[in-house]
Amino acid sequence: MAYILGIESSCDDTSAAILNDQQVCANLIANQNIHRAYGGVVPELASRAHQQSIVPVVEAALKKANITVHDLAAIAFTRGPGLLGSLLVGVSFAKAMGLALNVPLIEVNHLHAHILSHFIKENADSQTPEFPFLCLLISGGHTQIVLVKSPFSMEIIGRTIDDAAGEAFDKSAKIMDLGYPGGPTIDRLAKEGNPKAFTFAEPRIKHYDYSFSGLKTSFLYFVRDQLKKDHAFIEKNKADLCASIQQTIVQILMKKLCLAVKEQNIRTVAIAGGVSANSAMREAIEKTGQRLGWKTFIPKNEFTTDNAAMIAIAGYFKYLKQDFCRQDVVPYAR
Ligand code: KG4
Ligand code: ZN
Repeated sequence: MAYILGIESSCDDTSAAILNDQQVCANLIANQNIHRAYGGVVPELASRAHQQSIVPVVEAALKKANITVHDLAAIAFTRGPGLLGSLLVGVSFAKAMGLALNVPLIEVNHLHAHILSHFIKENADSQTPEFPFLCLLISGGHTQIVLVKSPFSMEIIGRTIDDAAGEAFDKSAKIMDLGYPGGPTIDRLAKEGNPKAFTFAEPRIKHYDYSFSGLKTSFLYFVRDQLKKDHAFIEKNKADLCASIQQTIVQILMKKLCLAVKEQNIRTVAIAGGVSANSAMREAIEKTGQRLGWKTFIPKNEFTTDNAAMIAIAGYFKYLKQDFCRQDVVPYAR
């Protein structure tokens, strides 16, 4: 039995979590609303907000887990990729805490952590995927199909050649003036809309790769043309626009995932990352999985967007191997 503290500060949310082996005891997230006014994450403001939040968030996580710092077996933190100024806050905090308490440090790759979030257990009989499995990792910065052979062996077999799926959501939302981040807003508004109201061209890309920048451009041009005819076009068609763009993004994602499942002959399939919170995406993988006989893993909403429980679970696997890092570890942006 080992208590592991996880710390996540790669982008705009400060999060701390406590896991007891694979079981979550606390997973707290301090959201940074400060970026909303700017329509995107402002790195300098993010870094400053992390500095303000990190101590209270870690303290609250310990309290929620009902343990003290002296119960910790290790401290896992996001080393990268992410915003350097944001990562620095989490990395420095973890190092100082590890040094003061004489507790070992574990460096975690943020993307591996998103995938390994499927091994977080809510209770003793929570189901976890068996290796090897395929994971569609869809976040604000990445879109990848990953062949997961073990917690330490992952092969990217497909990736976006330009924008990430999350960016496609966020940029489409920006075109409609829906605020940042746009993904959750599109998801909510799409519930009232018709996904077949408008169609947008899907990209033709080789192998298991993706492309989303063409979709963004065709959405932009379409909306711009319609606005010339009717300046209230967005207002009148908001739900249909959201449902249609969401449907197109999900279809693009599913097509390559289906191809990978078929050709790799692996039927255990997971989704992870912020966009895996999307309700149409969740429904698509569930229905397709049922139809084609896949065993699907869809994370609980809490573990889809950036959170420290996923950092702690990735740390847990390294802890089992006693794979610790040195005090002179530095963050990396990419
Ligand atoms: O994984 P994440 O929290 O951060 C990164 O590592 O990038 O993903 C953030 C992305 C944003 O682009 C956000 O718009 C998107 O996930 N997102 C969603 C939803 N919730 C978050 N996109 C579509 N539907 C959602 N419900
Ligand atoms: Zn992330």
